[in-house]
Amino acid sequence: MHITNTHILVHEFDYLEPASVEEAVDLLARYGPEARVLAGGTDLLVQMKMERLAPRYLVSIGRVPGLEGISVQDGRTRIGARTSIRTLRNDPWVRACYPVLAEACASFSTTQVQVMGTLGGNLGNASPASDTAPALIVLGAEAVLQGPKGARRVPVEEFFVGPGRSVLEPGELLVAVELPSPQAGAGGAFLKVGRVAADLAKVNATVVLVREEDRIADARLAFGAVAPTPLRARRAEAVLVGQRFSEEVVAEAARVASEEVSPIDDVRSTAWYRREITRVLAYDGLHRAWERAGQPAGPTPTAPASPPSAVAPARAPRHIRAEQEVQVQLTVNGQRRRVWVTPNELLLNVLREKLHLTGTKYGCGIGECSACTVHVDGRLALSCLVLAVAVDGSEVLTVEGLAGRDGKLHPLQESFIRHAAFQCGYCTPGMLLTAKSLLEEIPNPTEEDVRDYLKGNLCRCTGYAAIVRAVLGVKREE
Ligand code: FES
Ligand code: FES
Repeated sequence: MHITNTHILVHEFDYLEPASVEEAVDLLARYGPEARVLAGGTDLLVQMKMERLAPRYLVSIGRVPGLEGISVQDGRTRIGARTSIRTLRNDPWVRACYPVLAEACASFSTTQVQVMGTLGGNLGNASPASDTAPALIVLGAEAVLQGPKGARRVPVEEFFVGPGRSVLEPGELLVAVELPSPQAGAGGAFLKVGRVAADLAKVNATVVLVREEDRIADARLAFGAVAPTPLRARRAEAVLVGQRFSEEVVAEAARVASEEVSPIDDVRSTAWYRREITRVLAYDGLHRAWERAGQPAGPTPTAPASPPSAVAPARAPRHIRAEQEVQVQLTVNGQRRRVWVTPNELLLNVLREKLHLTGTKYGCGIGECSACTVHVDGRLALSCLVLAVAVDGSEVLTVEGLAGRDGKLHPLQESFIRHAAFQCGYCTPGMLLTAKSLLEEIPNPTEEDVRDYLKGNLCRCTGYAAIVRAVLGVKREE
């Protein structure tokens, strides 16, 4: 890995901010392969920092209205492409009707990446290891694409054509994913094996079974990270459909699935191990899905009728040339600040170098350590993966803004001191900002909640036990 610049992106690009889907499509058609869509930025900006991609134009869809939210119409659930992974993980409708998708999103990377990353971005990257793609495949989802010639629908199963490649034509934008009504009598499971909790999968598996008494009326299995694209295991499904559920049938289907995949050796695993784990996950997933299919359905929450209004307000389209400096206004820790930036400058750079707020730390620069965590408009953000121009007009909270104006420390800061939850303190600002978000989202967390929420914040000296105690201690010792 080679990163030639720590705080700004190495190469220069024009930053384009369309105000509508139509404008975004026009720009993508005009600039073709020289343009990339910027949504959450958690993959694209990493690829650019590592000099694997060098687009001349970034088309940011962050403020395009109509791309975010979950709605139900005529029995179909529509998920806007910019809907975050975290939203899908927590949404009551998705959890009740499409639990395998919610489970896939819960296992997705770190909390910060769940908050920043979008469903459309995860599919658009066309990673063979995507967690959401196998879940969407077994659910029979369709991708809705908008292009210069109009809209078209493609089954998610047919969306991928190779590693990093999809059926998206030049000028086309993935605008939504649509799911059919959940099947009666269906039960599902998402399982994943990775090196650590926040890592990409060595193998992931999604299973859905439809149960009619003791027979398997329908079966769908899909796997990630075991083929050039997310893979539906149709031969294994054929072993199951119409059969009585039995140990022999399940073991045979799992064996067939492990023969159907075509894994490779790479940095995360070996082909041999992946094949073995495919069999194990298929076996375990089938048992779990069957058990769930036999359980009475819980109460279904009210269907969301229209996308929530919490969408970034549209504003006039912008085209900022690569060399152009523009003034960006931020409210940082309650104070209005104005800075001049070029499109390739990152929020981390602005905070540390231009506003001299050095509490926010630079660690890895590629979204893997969370030392740079801040809040942008009340949501977690990795400032090393946020373009300053993209957050013009936003409110930013850094560690310097946690204490009160009178200097009184935030209860989390006091608890960290009480529990000796730091040594060098380098990770502490990111830990505090993440923990603040945790307590806002889950007011009475369990130890498991805290460990899961903080799984992306790396600490190299204290160890996590004291940090977890400090976060739990805020509530319990009040
Ligand atoms: S510096 Fe941003 S995640 Fe490591
Ligand atoms: S206290 Fe040193 S890295 Fe966490």
